[in-house]
Amino acid sequence: MARVLVTGGTGYIGSHTVVELINAGYDVAIVDNLSNSNINVLDGIEKICGVRPPFENIDCNDYENMDRLFGKYPDIVAVIHFAASKAVGESVEKPLMYYRNNIGSLITLLELMKVHKVQNIVFSSSCTVYGQPDILPVDENAPIKPALSPYGNTKQINEEIIRDTAHSDSNLHAILLRYFNPIGAHPSAEIGELPNGVPQNLLPFVTQTAAGLRKELKVFGNDYNTSDGSCIRDYINVVDLAKAHVVAVRRMLDKKATEQVEVFNLGTGRGLSVLEILNTFIKVTGVNVPYQIVGRREGDIEKVWANPDKANNVLGWKAQETVEDTLLSAWHWQEKLMGK
Ligand code: NAD
Ligand code: WQD
Repeated sequence: MARVLVTGGTGYIGSHTVVELINAGYDVAIVDNLSNSNINVLDGIEKICGVRPPFENIDCNDYENMDRLFGKYPDIVAVIHFAASKAVGESVEKPLMYYRNNIGSLITLLELMKVHKVQNIVFSSSCTVYGQPDILPVDENAPIKPALSPYGNTKQINEEIIRDTAHSDSNLHAILLRYFNPIGAHPSAEIGELPNGVPQNLLPFVTQTAAGLRKELKVFGNDYNTSDGSCIRDYINVVDLAKAHVVAVRRMLDKKATEQVEVFNLGTGRGLSVLEILNTFIKVTGVNVPYQIVGRREGDIEKVWANPDKANNVLGWKAQETVEDTLLSAWHWQEKLMGK
């Protein structure tokens, strides 16, 4: 069976994708430097799938060891590239680390894919490339706006690097997946989001507050031009997101792609406000979440949600999980982390 190399595969989205790839019958190899994840994630994957995928603790920027890795697994037919640093705020403080890590690792990967004749890559992009779209819902033809952070800029630059590389090499095929806001955890509660330190993202902060680990949730602003004044996002279940990667890999291996580089928005098509997410979480879990409305967070855009038609109709993928079940899965994962 074909093997898929998953970089960043012990991370949040990567680990969920590894599970779905194994469930779909693919062999997998994970490469991760554990800079933002824990090797115990492999135990969770094994408990879910009954398979412990090979794991290589390598930095994707390490050309020599990555070269050895491709040589060790000559049956790699596709790469899913999750490995990156992803904290927007941190990227503002440490731009060079982000440019070196996120752009350097992609360049190394593309160079070695050419050397080892691996011709398919799925790239983790982000709706952040759109900035604040002029038209909502946002589709793949929306203009790419100047990035609001070095992190967002690395995603834009990496998309261009992939396009330019594909233009120079007709054998390379790529699918760029622009994720909206992934949330939730595997229904088994064996894997989930493991934020390091104080969570920057909404959902882990909500679940940690609900668990009493945080005093209260700060809602960053309720004076936006939205129904309840809080920002709107397109929150997508992480397992739904993972399944889209299996579909993308299969599309390239079956040579169904109509362009060398294809782009898909991965969202539900439904925008929800921060307060709607918060109130839904409280409703479905029965757990209170103390919160306080505070000032806006710098860099936040007001509202964004996907037009998922292209992914639905061309990729043949559609988000299935309800926001209620997704929020419950996040809570069950938090309870598991607390040893319940
Ligand atoms: P994550 O931090 O949980 O996973 C990333 C993994 O990559 C981690 O396990 C980390 O240890 C590893 N890693 C980082 N740099 C590496 C390197 N140089 N070599 C090897 N491993 C390295 O993040 P995630 O939420 O799973 O995101 C995965 C991808 O999706 C990232 O590229 C991120 O930018 C993108 N993305 C995430 C979101 C989101 O909200 N989580 C949204 C849009 C896009
Ligand atoms: C969602 C909403 C906050 C925390 C970021 C990155 C994006 C992608 C996903 C990597 C916003 C509000 C949050 C809190 C709050 N990451 N919020 N209190 O900002 O949409 O996207 O993560 O690719 O690139 O920008 O996600 O979860 O941080 O925030 O009120 O304690 O929740 O203001 O409106 P965001 P988020």
